[in-house]
Amino acid sequence: MELIYAQDNLNLGQMAARWVARELLICPDLVLGLPTGSTPIGMYQSLTRLCQEGIISFTKARTFNLDEYVGLAADHPQSYAFYMREHFWSKVDLQVENEDIPRGDVANLDEECQRYDAAIQKAGGIGVQILGLGPNGHIGFNEPSNNMEIHTHVVNLSTETIQANTRFFSDSAAVPRQAVTMGVGSIMQAQKILLLVSGESKKDILTKSFYGPVSTAVPSSILQLHTDLTVITDIKL
Ligand code: F6R
Repeated sequence: MELIYAQDNLNLGQMAARWVARELLICPDLVLGLPTGSTPIGMYQSLTRLCQEGIISFTKARTFNLDEYVGLAADHPQSYAFYMREHFWSKVDLQVENEDIPRGDVANLDEECQRYDAAIQKAGGIGVQILGLGPNGHIGFNEPSNNMEIHTHVVNLSTETIQANTRFFSDSAAVPRQAVTMGVGSIMQAQKILLLVSGESKKDILTKSFYGPVSTAVPSSILQLHTDLTVITDIKL
């Protein structure tokens, strides 16, 4: 694991964007796995700037998002598809047909999960997976539980995740109780993983993730087993 310290959240976004830009320059048809949430917003802003300045291009790249809320259509302002369009997809030169995210508003979610895994496979798997870290150690929406799901699946969100994500909704009752998430298999099969962790409130979970035992109770601890992991954080461990 390579641990890179950023001075603050702004610096973290810039460093993450430069890291991704380097990967994209080496491999223009990169398959990227992408997160939403507050942590990567600065990275998306910096990547947008690099793209608009003509330094990098996403025209040959493909992207797969980690997750989506069940029940929210892509035009719902709190959906992750909406977030991606607002922060990234509409700002860079990525081809629409190369953006993918699980749909949470379809009648047959099992079929959607299978479609998503097949699309990732067809693209050759994820080249670079970017992750945020949930307050309970979730990666994507793989929540603490007794087992780890390998494939894309529907998950019941934990009380802690619902509480943490209430800040994006009018109140906690409005937060969807389920999500579709990429499984731990697709994440761990990525050639490289970049984990972004920001804010003192995540110090404990970051410490548990990398200095505690590998355990399904802390899903992020599985990342200890990945052979090409970079962590960029503004938390001093
Ligand atoms: C979002 C995702 C989640 C977030 C995590 C951290 O697509 O997969 O695992 O990365 O909940 O969210 P923030 O960055 O808002 O603290």
